[in-house]
Amino acid sequence: AKSKGINVKKIDNIFVVLIAIIVMISIRWIGILLINSLLILPAAASRNVANNMRKYHLFAVLFSLFSGLTGLIISYYFNVGAGPMIVIISGIIYFVTLLIKRKMEKKRVLTGDRPTGRLHIGHYFGSLKTRVEMQESGKYDPYILIADVQALTDNFNNPDKVRKNVREVMMDYLSVGLDPQKTTIYIQSMIPEVAELTVFYSNLVTISRLQRNPTVKTEIAQKKEIFGESVTYGFLGYPVSQAADITAFEGALVPVGEDQLPLIEQCKEIVRKFNSIYGETLIEPEAVLSNSKRIKGLDGNEKMGKSLGNAIYLSDSPEIITQKVMSAVTDPNRIRKDDKGNPDICMVAYYHNLFSTQEEYKTVCEECRAGERGCVACKKQLANNIIEFLKPIREKRKYYEERPELVDKLLMEGTEKARKTAAQTMKKIKKAMKLDYFE
Ligand code: TRP
Ligand code: SF4
Repeated sequence: AKSKGINVKKIDNIFVVLIAIIVMISIRWIGILLINSLLILPAAASRNVANNMRKYHLFAVLFSLFSGLTGLIISYYFNVGAGPMIVIISGIIYFVTLLIKRKMEKKRVLTGDRPTGRLHIGHYFGSLKTRVEMQESGKYDPYILIADVQALTDNFNNPDKVRKNVREVMMDYLSVGLDPQKTTIYIQSMIPEVAELTVFYSNLVTISRLQRNPTVKTEIAQKKEIFGESVTYGFLGYPVSQAADITAFEGALVPVGEDQLPLIEQCKEIVRKFNSIYGETLIEPEAVLSNSKRIKGLDGNEKMGKSLGNAIYLSDSPEIITQKVMSAVTDPNRIRKDDKGNPDICMVAYYHNLFSTQEEYKTVCEECRAGERGCVACKKQLANNIIEFLKPIREKRKYYEERPELVDKLLMEGTEKARKTAAQTMKKIKKAMKLDYFE
């Protein structure tokens, strides 16, 4: 981040090497220390390395010392002139630098949720699990936004609900293992740049294009009770605001479910239009269709959803979990225990497949088909397995529930960090749009 004054990106790498070699040959040993640090700059300049800047400087210093010493030793023992030796060693160092750069260049990943309710096991298998895995892989620079502004687009008459759920969602994140040290978690409304960008982008998208967006279209049809015959400007335009969410953070990867694809497509269109009018500034994001699965509701509905009342929440108590599992839809043809059942149409069997061992699942299916299994016992076994599965999450959540100030602090820190990132992008955008007055 410290190198932002110099536009190092534009310096041609080869040119740097040549200059470095010439300077090194002429000033020799003192030069090599200096120049090797400089060589590392173009590599360090890439935007995604910002997070690792401290590590990077350490590398630069160590490499310089190492190359200086090796050069000295080799030329001393083999009686070669220092000049060619330095050139060779610098060359090697330079390539090592490039290799390290490639390793450190972490792609920024952006995801988010609308804070309209606590998160459930559908969210867990659908996205949270992947987010934690990506975080732990260390290969990405993940950002997660709690999309309160977007939540208001169809909950504008219910601000209490949105506000309350910002913290609930944060606690869900923390309890599944998202770590604010590794993943930047922030509140959307506290990043004014996102709102600003939304205004800028609104010139780059037509009303009819928004009306044709399949996701928006479906949602408007579903939300007749909120919007009646005519949808609000804000709701129709939320894809524009989502494009701002992504681009303000130069999000490169956006892992989403299928239903979100049209939103990413719309974002790409906005990016292309922006770049063609104002010059190459924005990064076109890439949607990553997660291989994680959408899980069905307890009632057999294709989707588990808070509004459908068929969800098991990460924060549900063991009693509630048992109660919910007991009400799950089973094979309707089974009335007595020795009726032969069909686990393929039973939600209990479906969840056994997710929460029980493969062995257990196999036994469930076999016994059910043979009419050797009672549904009540089958459900109790499942409930216990779900309770066990969610135990660490529930315990971690309890820890945070008892420490609301800590949750707030973590939210605040993440938001502050996100603001800095967004401000940097905004600077570039305003410059491209010639809105950089008094700079
Ligand atoms: N639309 C997403 C949802 O309903 C939430 C969201 C808002 C989002 N902004 C985003 C997702 C940016 C990915 C990237 O779940
Ligand atoms: Fe479903 Fe289990 Fe009953 Fe079979 S025995 S119908 S799998 S609950």
